[in-house]
Amino acid sequence: MAKLIAPSLLSADFARIADQIADVQNAGADWLHLDVMDGRFVPNITWGPKIIGDLRKLSPLVFDAHLMIEEPERYVEDFREAGCDRITFHLEATTHAQRLLTRIRELGAKAGVAICPQTPILMLEDIIDECDLVLVMSVNPGFGGQKFIPRTFEKVRQARALIDGRNPLCLIEVDGGVGERNARELTDAGVDVLVMGSTIFGASDPGAELRRIRSLL
Ligand code: DX5
Ligand code: ZN
Repeated sequence: MAKLIAPSLLSADFARIADQIADVQNAGADWLHLDVMDGRFVPNITWGPKIIGDLRKLSPLVFDAHLMIEEPERYVEDFREAGCDRITFHLEATTHAQRLLTRIRELGAKAGVAICPQTPILMLEDIIDECDLVLVMSVNPGFGGQKFIPRTFEKVRQARALIDGRNPLCLIEVDGGVGERNARELTDAGVDVLVMGSTIFGASDPGAELRRIRSLL
């Protein structure tokens, strides 16, 4: 399938968020990636359903929520109501991942599971049938602008093999330290969706940067 680019609003300037969203949307962004952080699962805090509901009025793009929160099962309904099309939670943050994946699908959203760098792909074997997306973290979650962990390439290849054999419609997303130096290598390894925060919003012209990365894929 065509490779997708999901700019992460974590690195956007919220004082002019409407312009920033319009910019990447006009440049052909496929999804908007929304990082929800609670200050517990990760050492940083961002936004909740209220802000996402307000952003929803600014763009028809797919809202790709990445929940970095403890007990995500308590909040998936609120994020769905706020307008998230895809909801991805961390395997490490909940005891009942299989149940939560099913619940997110019942709510009419696409269900994703994210894994931190220390969690092996093996942990996905018994839930892969219920996943619409697997998010392989290529940094420790919490902050933008961190260094890409090279072991991610091998994990992507393992995820690709698991998904091709068991649930070929499931997408693979990579998040953290993605940019021109590794984007093509990641898609060659089997990634479907590239999340990019600082690469895009740290550029002087985010739209032009998005187009430039797209041309490399
Ligand atoms: C980090 C977030 C990422 C973040 C990536 O925990 O999940 O989505 O925005 O930022 P970059 O692309 O700057 O590494
Ligand atoms: Zn993210």
